[in-house]
Amino acid sequence: MCGIFAYTGEKESLPILIDGLTCLEYRGYDSAGIFIPHSGLIKSVGAVDNLKKKLSKAMPGKSGIAHLRWATHGEPTEANAHPHCDCNKKIYVVHNGIIENYKELKNKLLLEGHIFISETDTEVLAHLIEHYLSIKQDFEKAVISALKDVRGTYGISVSYDNEPEKIIAARFGAPVVLGLGDRENFIASDASPILRHTKNVIYLRDGEVAVITPKTHRIYNLDSAEVTRDKQILDWDADQVKKDGYEHFMLKEIMEGPEVVENTIRGRLIIEEGQVKLGGLEVVADRLRQINRIIIVGCGTAYYAGLVGEYMLEEYAGIPVEVEIGSEFRYRKPIIDKNTVLLAISQSGETADTLEAIREAKRKGALTLGIVNTVGSTITRETDAGVHNHAGPEIGVASTKAFISQLTALALVTLFIGRQRNMSLSVGQEIAKEIKLLPKKIKEILKSVDDIKAIAKKYKNSKDFLYVGRKYNYPIALEGALKLKEVSYIHAEGYGAGEMKHGPLAMIDEKFPTVAISLKDSVYEKMLSNIQEIRARKGKVIIIATKGDKTLTDFSEDIIYIPKTIEMLSPILSIVPLQLLAYYFALGKKLNVDRPRNLAKSVTVE
Ligand code: M6R
Repeated sequence: MCGIFAYTGEKESLPILIDGLTCLEYRGYDSAGIFIPHSGLIKSVGAVDNLKKKLSKAMPGKSGIAHLRWATHGEPTEANAHPHCDCNKKIYVVHNGIIENYKELKNKLLLEGHIFISETDTEVLAHLIEHYLSIKQDFEKAVISALKDVRGTYGISVSYDNEPEKIIAARFGAPVVLGLGDRENFIASDASPILRHTKNVIYLRDGEVAVITPKTHRIYNLDSAEVTRDKQILDWDADQVKKDGYEHFMLKEIMEGPEVVENTIRGRLIIEEGQVKLGGLEVVADRLRQINRIIIVGCGTAYYAGLVGEYMLEEYAGIPVEVEIGSEFRYRKPIIDKNTVLLAISQSGETADTLEAIREAKRKGALTLGIVNTVGSTITRETDAGVHNHAGPEIGVASTKAFISQLTALALVTLFIGRQRNMSLSVGQEIAKEIKLLPKKIKEILKSVDDIKAIAKKYKNSKDFLYVGRKYNYPIALEGALKLKEVSYIHAEGYGAGEMKHGPLAMIDEKFPTVAISLKDSVYEKMLSNIQEIRARKGKVIIIATKGDKTLTDFSEDIIYIPKTIEMLSPILSIVPLQLLAYYFALGKKLNVDRPRNLAKSVTVE
């Protein structure tokens, strides 16, 4: 959601800033802009390519700030695109987040004679800084004073024509990363555009302000006291944010499935002991023995992963689990005590609603854990302990490889907590052995890509789809439907197959196909009955089935087979064909698969 990138160093900044914006495109945006001190401002609506086309003159300079905007206050127009400036066109600000008291501040500034040219909340920041400069504060103090006046969330970068080498960044609720290079420094809203320049980063914390020049970086709190923060070395590779010959990141990331599971389990499985080594949870192992309830919180795909986790943990760790979407959890009165664990799942580690759920649970004394992909992210820092996915950066807005690694991590957590409780050695060993086999099995599924493509082609004119599954594969029906909606804009609904008779069956006719996950597991017979009910209404069915299941050939021509595994792990396999199916539907419609309309990769506002 919105992207910030800033550079100061010895090189020409324009190509570096454009490249940075291109890297951030995956976050979702509707307009773009760049400011380079003494060279000026350029903005455009739409893609970064539009911005490049508008570059009619050279924009020399060795520093600058750049932004991709995802509209919140005001339409996606050039006037509303960032950077925003003060009346004297000296101070330029790019901002992610929402300034909640912007109207009140704007009214005060208007009375002082400031002139506003956009409808955004961000513009007040530039004028506020101008106000403090006018009362003889220096640049750094003026930014801090302005930030003290605002309520809301921000990740910002500020550039000042009078001090062109210096860029000031700050964060409160919206992520900001500093990249520390060799005689050059960077600011960004996530590490992806920085990785190609340096792996040395510092993630700012809420209430921190950073001042960078080509050779220095300093961090302050809002009381202007300097803060010492060690740099972190990212183990992500710059190549991971490239498409590697694939047409889209989404396809590349689906294809990475086997490697992703390998990376999530690497060094963690102890098969002979039916155990896992999760360094991140060992620190809270004693406390975990005392807990009597787990609440899993996530949004979108991460929430669906949590639903699978509920089945896993209740069945194998024998502990009551509830799963809730972040945006609901934070507004109800959850009953939480010190024997409750809140387990947050998030790819980005920055989702605002998930983060607020963690904060609420902490206030009430719960132990908070995270399953998070992005090392150094806010959720990683604010939870008491957790497990990193090690899935590598996910660029496609539609979450694919992160989901697979979230499910794998949940299986590891289940083993960890289960073995602390009543899970037997033999059950632990069986689960661990089966987890180890998953990468090979995913590889096998990925070979069916042509069959899946053919099914997507066959059903390309269908306007609606139903996705059904039961038990462990009920959340997979929900996630499969979400993937289709998200990337192909086709209406899809996910249901527990047992619910069909309670309403959704009414929609079924020859034009309304169903995707049914019907594996050889404990609910197989029930699924067969549900598929029969659909066929009896002339509904067409695309089936995800267990390899070797001959019965289903009587039910449909369109069957995608997946290898057998234990029921608890089957979602890690069954989701793969559904991700591919969604991808090929979107490809058939020639849509922007990696950046679906209206969506952002990381949702850092409520
Ligand atoms: O970064 P997070 O995992 O916290 O993001 C949560 C959701 O916004 C995310 O999963 C979203 O639903 C995806 N676009 C789904 O593909």
